[in-house]
Amino acid sequence: MTVNQPLLRVEGLTKHFPVQKGLLDRISFQGGRLALRSQVVHAVNGVNLVLARGETLALVGESGCGKSTLAKTIIGLHTPTAGQVYFEGQEISRLQGRARKPFRKKIQMIFQDPFSSLNPRKKVMDIIAAPMKVHGLVGKTDRQTKVYELMEKVGLHPAYANRYPHQFSGGQRQRIGIARSLASLPELIIADEPISALDVSIQAQVLNLLMAMQEEFHLTYLFVSHDLSVVKHLSNRVAVMYLGFLVEVAETEAIFLKPAHPYTRLLFAAIPTLDVLEFREGDQQEGEVPTPIDLTRGCPFHPRCGRTQALCREMRPELTSLASVSGGEHLLACHYPVRD
Ligand SMILES: Nc1ncnc2c1ncn2[C@@H]1O[C@H](COP(=O)(O)OP(=O)(O)OP(=O)(O)O)[C@@H](O)[C@H]1O
Ligand SMILES: [Mg+2]
Repeated sequence: MTVNQPLLRVEGLTKHFPVQKGLLDRISFQGGRLALRSQVVHAVNGVNLVLARGETLALVGESGCGKSTLAKTIIGLHTPTAGQVYFEGQEISRLQGRARKPFRKKIQMIFQDPFSSLNPRKKVMDIIAAPMKVHGLVGKTDRQTKVYELMEKVGLHPAYANRYPHQFSGGQRQRIGIARSLASLPELIIADEPISALDVSIQAQVLNLLMAMQEEFHLTYLFVSHDLSVVKHLSNRVAVMYLGFLVEVAETEAIFLKPAHPYTRLLFAAIPTLDVLEFREGDQQEGEVPTPIDLTRGCPFHPRCGRTQALCREMRPELTSLASVSGGEHLLACHYPVRD
């Protein structure tokens, strides 16, 4: 491993799902002849992304834009349609079985719903001990002590080790999920909306726990979230996704101060608690919210964008570096960025 090698590098990652539709829906006429259309959901399209060791990258965008699909494709729950995922320089996206095992240890996922991601028939002790066993990290005799240790770290009383998930509250269950993911000594944690299913009153506690764990275990986070005030608080960089494309990636401070993509501005303006730029009416059109089934030509945001010009309808802008930025890199996919 070279010193400056990123922990994770994603190149051209693409995930399309076939649409299951009835025969009649798929029949069309082309040039006077019957044809069968095969439709696909373009959930993730050619995503390039780099994560440096120790950083927190937030992935934001509206519902259905492909955040979870990207997360799951990175971790190997989906096989990519195209593209690669490199972990410490090794291509892992198509590894299976034994070949993938070391990476299942190093990359863990925390899910939104702490209940459905825990086996209801297993006691907390066995849930947290499982990764230690599978990856041969802790001998049988020490496992119990290690589980107690982890429970304490995440704020669960070890006396609860023999209880089942349903005997815990949502916040406690998420703590169990966090302890389980830490048990394999991961390097990268992909957290997909880890607090959005929890009561507002305990969201902050779980967030603080995630941040404390990052510090203690030197973790790198890919943090998927709807909540921009949370994102602003805990991430180093932000990646904005729209219809399966990354449209803007920048340091947190820079992107909140000067969002350059019209979609980022739209997204940020929708958060009433955030003191960001006022969204100007000209930035948005009354376009229909598009679906990822029929990808339009040109920029994916052009039907909703108030700044659309002919070029935007014709050519999709690539994610490239904004020339005029000092400090961290600011990547943008827009022909006519907002510059004020
Ligand atoms: N297994 C699947 N089969 C078919 N389509 C899918 C599948 N998983 C996701 N999709 C579709 O892919 C698109 C992206 O979905 P995804 O769940 O990744 O979005 P998301 O950004 O995580 O949304 P949310 O914020 O609501 O969690 C959606 O149109 C969704 O319907
Ligand atoms: Mg999701």
